[in-house]
Amino acid sequence: MLFSACLFLLFSSVLANVEKAIFLAPPTTSVPQHHPNLDDLYLIPLSPPDHKSVRTHLNASFPTSDSPRGTVSWFLLDGLNAGQRYEVRICWLATQPTSFWLTTHTLEEAFGAPELITSLSHYAYAQEARWKHADAEALKARRAPVRQIPSGGDPDEVRASILLLEVHAAADYFSLNRTLMENVPPVLVDIILDPYILNVFPESLVPTAGYLVCIAVIAWFISGYVWKFIKSYIAATPPRDEAAHLISKKTL
Ligand SMILES: *[C@@H]1O[C@H](CO)[C@@H](O)[C@H](O)[C@H]1NC(C)=O
Repeated sequence: MLFSACLFLLFSSVLANVEKAIFLAPPTTSVPQHHPNLDDLYLIPLSPPDHKSVRTHLNASFPTSDSPRGTVSWFLLDGLNAGQRYEVRICWLATQPTSFWLTTHTLEEAFGAPELITSLSHYAYAQEARWKHADAEALKARRAPVRQIPSGGDPDEVRASILLLEVHAAADYFSLNRTLMENVPPVLVDIILDPYILNVFPESLVPTAGYLVCIAVIAWFISGYVWKFIKSYIAATPPRDEAAHLISKKTL
């Protein structure tokens, strides 16, 4: 059983690569409800507990001096619990060798830095052209439910803990096939937002941990049986030294 677990871990590490970022959810900020708002960015939202992961294709490119980390994509990390620890992972197939960089930005950081807001708006325009109306509605459905938090000021104010996730993807292969060297195919990825339990343990590791505990308990019982068996075996066999001692006494 342990062997098969090891084999599974080995295989999953061979077949898929993982890159991740660990972060603390920021304090809540006021989220604009009227246009232009976050929905107008057409980003794919990840919001626990219902929409923790997404499978999608990301554009990648070979690094250049202008863009040493390849092509950028943006995602929305929505409905976080302020102060809680999370990790966001990106998994991709080993058959599509790519380097990824994950960076999280608060809304203030992203909208305050000229290079970030330029990158974000370029991406948003490209996304708007890509999605149809139905897709845009599906994206909205992935947002966390609006939580009206009454504060001293505006009664309609909506506050939420939100981050923007910046993902850089640089192709990391060499091929004799010219097509593949000129046009990098989009990379199929899973992006997973994983809350930590008590801020120390990623939620998605709970089944693995349970499995290891099971193995430990079974191993403990088996070792008990083995130990009993050895003890009864020893008890049933006369100790050789003592027998030898008796024999030597008799001959004397
Ligand atoms: C090069 O790669 C493309 C895309 O994978 C493929 O369609 C094409 O057949 C390949 N060409 C050669 C000569 O192998």
